[in-house]
Amino acid sequence: MGVHYVLDTADVPEGGHAVVQVEGREIGIFRINGEFYALHNSCPHQGAPMCAGHVSGTNLPSGVYEYEYRRKGEILRCPWHGWEFDIRTGKSLFSERTRVKTYELEVADGKIGVVLGK
Ligand code: FES
Repeated sequence: MGVHYVLDTADVPEGGHAVVQVEGREIGIFRINGEFYALHNSCPHQGAPMCAGHVSGTNLPSGVYEYEYRRKGEILRCPWHGWEFDIRTGKSLFSERTRVKTYELEVADGKIGVVLGK
């Protein structure tokens, strides 16, 4: 429990991610516009390794023959069946009740710490 410093901020490039192990948990740490976010590396559907999925944007609801592609770099698509999740919150794009577990991070002095037990 507590804060586990697992990476330097330089280890996670802008728009990229790294997967770390913390007390038996596999956690993906993503960097979006200079901010860091942590997701459990397991899809709530059937347990796929989420971090092997594609990071993209998504098409927002729109009219017929209209496409509104937004949120580029903020959406993680599960590699097995394509469910989409907001990297910032872990919430799925299709249901308020379906989400990937997120973890709090502490970023200080160029180090990234995963907070467990809060
Ligand atoms: S295992 Fe992720 S959508 Fe099915």
